[in-house]
Amino acid sequence: MKRRDFLHTTSLTGIAVASGAALMSCDHKNKEQKPVVSTSEENEITPIAIATWNVPEAVNKAWEVIENGGSALDAVEQGCRVEEANEEGQSVGVGGLPDRDGNVTLDACIMNAEGDYGAVVYLQNIKHPISVARKVMEETPHVLMAGKGAEQFALSSGFEKENLLTEASKKAWEEWKVTAKYKPIINIENHDTIGMLAIDKEGNISGGCTTSGLAYKMAGRVGDSPIIGSGLFVDNEIGAATATGMGEEVLKTVGSFLIVELMRQGRSPQQACEEAIERIVAKNKDRLQDFQVAYIAINKKGATGAHAIHSGFSVTSYTAEKQEIYNSSHYLSDS
Ligand code: GLY
Repeated sequence: MKRRDFLHTTSLTGIAVASGAALMSCDHKNKEQKPVVSTSEENEITPIAIATWNVPEAVNKAWEVIENGGSALDAVEQGCRVEEANEEGQSVGVGGLPDRDGNVTLDACIMNAEGDYGAVVYLQNIKHPISVARKVMEETPHVLMAGKGAEQFALSSGFEKENLLTEASKKAWEEWKVTAKYKPIINIENHDTIGMLAIDKEGNISGGCTTSGLAYKMAGRVGDSPIIGSGLFVDNEIGAATATGMGEEVLKTVGSFLIVELMRQGRSPQQACEEAIERIVAKNKDRLQDFQVAYIAINKKGATGAHAIHSGFSVTSYTAEKQEIYNSSHYLSDS
């Protein structure tokens, strides 16, 4: 079952699934509907784990780490690993849909409260790119490793070589090949990168982002997810943001960095997400129906924002007060 179907069909014990009036849903003509998910007093720390899409198991794992006094960095790594190991999810880790040549290639990055960053791109045969990204950050003089070199680094660091192409994803690829044209396929249905942000009990912020990228992409294609400032950005003084959707558009606007900088200038996380989406909208007026982009953001106080071009983008958020999955606001009222 796809994550977005799960949102509509599953009720979760102990999780308040937002619905009806509580759902954040507005269009661009209705900007006054500002969702405020979390507020706090000045200097009060509001621990939180929040992720793109409806991924309660992943966010629950991150939240467990935070509740037990762990760091936001451990929380996002552990949370992302849950989805990377989930064979049912066809957009992250094992089970990810392959490129058009049938190879599953993974991108991931992680960023900590000190502003350190690590990433892997075009990684094959390794189930947990988020953990390899963390090793790049902590154990090498580099920040970004690619392809065979990244795989060799992972293997020498103790990661196992594994087949990531499940039978279900192989079948989907074989079906796609029957009619596919050799050009990038633009379709929001095959995007659900997991971006996760967390604030721990010390008030420190970290983020992680992991994906198998655009399904049936051209061999060698890399999206926004592993690129600092695009798929993810963390500034421990200000907040953090992460992206999902058509990576090419996020890359061209350096979306996550933009959101953090807008928050630095005084925007709320919600206002900053909306402005970043509007940058993309302004450049793509004629082709908005072709792709989805969505952002989530948190600020230092634990307030959150989420905004997408189209409807159907969900967010999973855990705080001590509330555990919820909700639909974000979106730019287009007709989607
Ligand atoms: N946002 C994931 C990608 O475009 O690869």
